[in-house]
Amino acid sequence: MLIRAARFSDLDNIGALVDYYAEQGALLPRSRESLLAYLPFLGVACEGPELAGIVALHQLEPTVGEVRSLAVAPAFHKQGIGEKLVQYAVNQAQTAGFAKVISFTRQVAFFEHCGFQTVSRDSVPAKYFTDCVGCPMLSHCDEVAMEKALAVSVRTAQPEPGTESLSASLSMLADR
Ligand SMILES: CC(C)(COP(=O)(O)OP(=O)(O)OC[C@H]1O[C@@H](n2cnc3c(N)ncnc32)[C@H](O)[C@@H]1OP(=O)(O)O)[C@@H](O)C(=O)NCCC(=O)NCCS
Repeated sequence: MLIRAARFSDLDNIGALVDYYAEQGALLPRSRESLLAYLPFLGVACEGPELAGIVALHQLEPTVGEVRSLAVAPAFHKQGIGEKLVQYAVNQAQTAGFAKVISFTRQVAFFEHCGFQTVSRDSVPAKYFTDCVGCPMLSHCDEVAMEKALAVSVRTAQPEPGTESLSASLSMLADR
């Protein structure tokens, strides 16, 4: 199992996985154009030629990252891939110098397993103003805010092999 930064050639497979879970209401639907713009922030898990899962790290506040679009293809569930993808995003966040990562999720037990804890939704106001205000689920949202604090890292740390693209994108954002 290889976890690496997403490439243009992954786009169709990523789109198919997002469509699959969007139909079930587990992920937000995304157009191919939106996925293309999102590509530098996506990591993928690959088993040979197959796409086993995806994860994105989005910068929500200057030092707060959000784990988003986490999905593992059904055939690969319960093999530790979801946890590895979360760890990949957490490593990227640490390399980018973020103080914490958050997730808005219904998969509370899974994220607890990954070291996150439940926090008040009010502790992440940027999420409300960037995503929630325009969301049709706003008045009956059942997602739970969860966070994981990160140890302070040295910004010059070398990215792990294969993670340069995402790290570079996020470091660039964090410097703005
Ligand atoms: C949630 C999801 C990413 C988990 O992926 P996965 O690869 O099956 O999870 P892992 O195998 O890495 O699981 C790690 C641990 O969490 C546990 N776990 C996995 N899914 C769980 C769930 N839904 N509830 C409770 N525990 C769960 C596993 O049992 C495992 O624990 P163990 O090591 O003690 O056996 C996957 O079920 C998925 O893609 N779901 C649909 C999309 C979705 O809901 N995404 C989340 C959006 S925030």
